[in-house]
Amino acid sequence: MTYEMEKEIHEQPKVLKNLIEKYVTKENKISFNLPKGIKKLTFIASGSSYHCAGIVAKLFREFANIKASFEYASEFYISKNIFIENNTLYIFISQSGETFDTVESLKKVKEFGGKTMCVTNCINSSLWNMCDYKILSEAGEEKSIASTKALSAQLLCLYLIMLEFIETKGHDITQELISIKKLPTFIEKYLSNTTQIKLAAKELSKNKNIVLIGSKYYYSAAKEGALKIKETSYIDANAYPQGEFLHGHMAILNNKPALVAICVEETKESMKLVLNRLFQDYTFPLILVCNKNTLFKNALTIEIGTTNNIYNIFATVITFQMLAFEIAIKLGRNVDKPLGLNKVVK
Ligand code: AGP
Repeated sequence: MTYEMEKEIHEQPKVLKNLIEKYVTKENKISFNLPKGIKKLTFIASGSSYHCAGIVAKLFREFANIKASFEYASEFYISKNIFIENNTLYIFISQSGETFDTVESLKKVKEFGGKTMCVTNCINSSLWNMCDYKILSEAGEEKSIASTKALSAQLLCLYLIMLEFIETKGHDITQELISIKKLPTFIEKYLSNTTQIKLAAKELSKNKNIVLIGSKYYYSAAKEGALKIKETSYIDANAYPQGEFLHGHMAILNNKPALVAICVEETKESMKLVLNRLFQDYTFPLILVCNKNTLFKNALTIEIGTTNNIYNIFATVITFQMLAFEIAIKLGRNVDKPLGLNKVVK
């Protein structure tokens, strides 16, 4: 493989496998040092790490029944009033551990006495050195400017943290751990055939605008997809929560963008309603990211082939990485070093 981004996308099964071996014991116990008595979580991050925060905050609310919010670091640290609450853990997510906005936000939380934790790929980074609790996401060096394997590694660490929180509430998480141990093999198999993704990329590369829609964690995944497409191919890609899209935003379909809809099992019925409503007034090329397309025969389809929610989340994120990569290559972009972008911002 000639491109770092492509290489790093394909490294993901190995990265995930290593992390599982590092943090989950053979007896299905998770080995993190987590603070006790936490009632609320606030995730703070930038870019892809922020989208990771969005996905996991919603997972925490839905499955761990814990209050969780997420903030753009760049917005957080410039706020006049910072409300630090007791029993809240502030979790900073960052590949580099050095992103200016995220580090400044951490300083703010510390200044007001908040409890802090980081999930980062870089040991001895500023975040690592300053946080009370720290988890190494160990994705290995990420050379491509577009983050891929670092994001999946963060996502896995935070999913495991969530399972540990669930376990401390007295629930058995053995089945979830057995299942997550099989994730690397699933991703490896999924990445071994990218024919559908390449076909979708061919269609998408013809468009000046791309709209992505999804719901819940899949909306955050759609935002990540839009970021990945923008930064590697420079196409104007924007994500919307699927239901909210009907509230006026859909008028942009008059400009004839392509529409990418995440239509997995959990959100299939609501997505069906949204797409049927859109087809009443608009025509547009539709790309479905789904488990199996039984709904819209004319759509280009990327089938993930599982109904497991967590696998779907990882596979959706990885689908958009490959899609962005393929679009950028088709357009002849410098995919590993997009014009004007740099990796670490200090
Ligand atoms: C991701 O593809 C981007 N290159 C960028 O958004 C990045 O995720 C962001 O700058 C945050 O970086 P960090 O994770 O190192 O803090």
